[in-house]
Formats: sequence, C-alpha cells, structure tokens
Amino acid sequence: MTTVRRKVTAVLAVAAVLAVSACSSTPSSTSTNTGAAATKDVEVFTWWAAGGEKAGLDGLVSVFKKDCSQYNFVNAAVAGGGGDKAKTLLANNLKAGNAPASFQAHAGGELSDYIANGQVEDITSLFKAAGLDTAFPKELLDQITVAGKVYSVPADIHRANMVWVNPVVLKKANLDPTKAPATVKDWIADLAKLKAAGVATPLVLSKGFAEEMLLESTLLGDLGVDSFNGLYDGKTKWDGADVTAALNDFKTLVSYSNTDRETMDWDAAMSKYLLPTDPTTATGGYQLMGDWVPAQILSLKLPESSYTYWPAPGTDGVYQWLSDSFTLPKGGKNPEGAKCWLKVVGSVAGQKAFNTVKGSIPARKDATSDGYPKYQQWAMAQWKTAKLAPSLAHGSAGPGAWNNDVQTAMSAFSASSDVATLQKTLVAAATKYSSWRSTL
Ligand code: GAL
Repeated sequence: MTTVRRKVTAVLAVAAVLAVSACSSTPSSTSTNTGAAATKDVEVFTWWAAGGEKAGLDGLVSVFKKDCSQYNFVNAAVAGGGGDKAKTLLANNLKAGNAPASFQAHAGGELSDYIANGQVEDITSLFKAAGLDTAFPKELLDQITVAGKVYSVPADIHRANMVWVNPVVLKKANLDPTKAPATVKDWIADLAKLKAAGVATPLVLSKGFAEEMLLESTLLGDLGVDSFNGLYDGKTKWDGADVTAALNDFKTLVSYSNTDRETMDWDAAMSKYLLPTDPTTATGGYQLMGDWVPAQILSLKLPESSYTYWPAPGTDGVYQWLSDSFTLPKGGKNPEGAKCWLKVVGSVAGQKAFNTVKGSIPARKDATSDGYPKYQQWAMAQWKTAKLAPSLAHGSAGPGAWNNDVQTAMSAFSASSDVATLQKTLVAAATKYSSWRSTL
C-alpha cells in the first residue's frame, strides 16, 4: 500500500464510517411465489434494472440459486441511473416499515445515512463467520464500519473518473482516441477541435448524477487529488478561487454537450450519441461516466474496438472509487434468506459472477484478473497503485442529503450556466453537511 493510499485511508477512516419506470414496480421473482413459497422469498432492492447492470445482478442471482437453493430470489429493482428513483422509493418504504430483505447502498457516506437512522442491522458476526473480515481492503472496511460494527457487504469497486471515447468520431478532427489530454484545458481545446470539424455533440452528457460526475472530475482534474479530497474533509474551501476556476471550466465543458441532456439517463445518452447501434450515425466524441459503461457496451454486443477509454483529463493515477454494497435492513423480510444473499455477495464465486459482467472490479483482495474482460484487467492493475478519491455522486464522499443538494444545483446550472450561483450553492451544501462524520 502506498504512503498516499495510507494517508487517504487515514482520512477516510476518521470518516468513520463508515459508512420504472421501475424494472417492475411490483417485484418479479425468478420462481413462482405462491402460497407457502412466499416465506422463502428474498426480495433484493437495487437500481440495476437493465443492460450491463442487470447482467451483473443476474450473475449474483445465478450463484444465489446454487448456494441458497432453499430460497426464491425476488427482484425489486427500480430503474434509474445512480439510483435516483430507487433511493427515494426506498426511503419511503423504510419509513413505512416496509423493508426488503436486502438493499443496495454505497459504502461511505450514503451507508452512514441508514446507520444513523437505525435502518440497518449490525452484521459483524455474519461477516466474521463468513471470513469476510479479512477479505476486503482496509480502506473499504473503514467505509462500512461504524464504531467497530460492520453494516454491509461490498460487491464491487467502481471507478467514476473515466472518459469513454468514440474513435471514429475523434478521427474527424484528427485526434488520437488512445491519448488522453493531459489537463482539463487540453480537453477543452480538443472539444473545440471536434466542434470545428462539424461534430454535433463533442461531449455526451445526461441529467443528474452524470452532470455531478462531470463536475467532480473537473474539480479533481483542476485541483489535484489532495485539494479535491480536502473539499470533503474540510481542508479545501468551496469558495476558493481555484474552485471558481474549475467551475468555469465545468461551464465550458457543459457548453460542448448535447442540449437535451436534462431529458435522458446515461445509458440512453450513450446509445443516442456515443455508440449507436449503427456506428455511422454516431455524433458524440466523449462521455464521462463510471466504469459500468464497458458492461453496458458488452450487453449491447458492441465490439471492444468500438471504443477507447482513459481516466478523466488531469486525473491519471487517481481512482475516484465507489463501492456497491448490500445491507440487512432492520425489520426486513426473511432475514435468514437475506443472510444467505449477503454471503453470496461477499463470496469469491459471487464477486466473479457479478464483476466480470458489471465493469467493476471485485472488492475482495484475493481475486485475480483471470477470466475478466480487458477493461477490468487494466482497472485491477490501476487500483493497486492509484491514489484514492471518493465520489459524492455515488455515496462514498458524503451523505445522501449533500448529494441531493448538489444534484438539484446541477439541473439549475444546466438551465442557467450561472457559475456564481452554483458556487454559492456548493458552499451552502458543504457548510450544512460536511460535519456528517461527527454525527455518527
Ligand atoms: C452507481 C452504482 C453503479 C451503477 C451506476 C449507474 O451509483 O454504484 O453500480 O449502477 O450507479 O446506475
């Protein structure tokens, strides 16, 4: 583990924590749920309803069917990238005492919300019994642990600061699709070249969390990893001139994107502009998005040669990480069945069946890259040496309420392009929420 990794780990450890249109608004089961069989149901709530995300979930279910054959898997997925719809519905269900058997939550700040609300069980003993206490890297364990108690089982590690590139579109401006621009400013220069070459949508963008990801990677690229991490641990001021400069770069980046960005999710934007089924109709050059993209491309059966990828400009060597994990809700239906699910999520076989088709890398330390697609093999090597940064858009950097405020600011900014107002809102949100750790 590098010194930097240890430092970041220490910072995160203080953090404590840790911590359809629905695919169907009524859960669908992989087997018939009638009569007595209903008690065997294990209802799992996620936002993995289609494409590469559903493929990942199906991978876990295939192992669950073998290892937990006494139970029925019930899919309660609610579509919507980043879980925007799912999280709202889940919050209402939990409040109403209608918890599923297990639900998806990001390790870090997002999980801490559920812990603070007393909505998830301490699973330390299950963790130990299944040998999971030694299975995951320390920095990740810190994100699912509060006051020595573990609250979820990590399924994966995703990377947020990635750019996906259409090589055919880039050739129109004689740009090398394999070479990342070194800085955000260099990227802006390339976007201008694409525009000048007649490319309609140099940067492909979609609503909500995708805009927030572009914002975070611009801050990460412009400020550097240490100052970026300082935004979330209070050491970097959100009202600084360096943040203003990054927000102006963000404004410029957004100006090169599709104007219908507020109307679509990340996967629809990808299929419309970056990688349409008919490649000759592509009008998008780049899309900044997490590494669930290669899984989506795989599920669409597009060839690996149809895209290239690199870390967002200015962020090479930094892994802006997030981790999907699964919980045991208080008052959930069928806790024994849920425990069987959680063991599958943390198991060698479960992590392999999931991560090979989800674009993510396994959270387990003992996983090897055998049998993984090219992208994950590269990502696993990157993870070993990269410096770490968390993601607010995907729950590792802070609580859900902070994320919600920033996402609201994103759609306002998309309409106004008003940097001063955006910065004021970001300052207000940080002031309100940055002490979240001390409440745990
Ligand atoms: C993230 C989640 C990923 C992926 C993505 C897009 O929040 O961690 O697994 O599903 O949203 O929906």
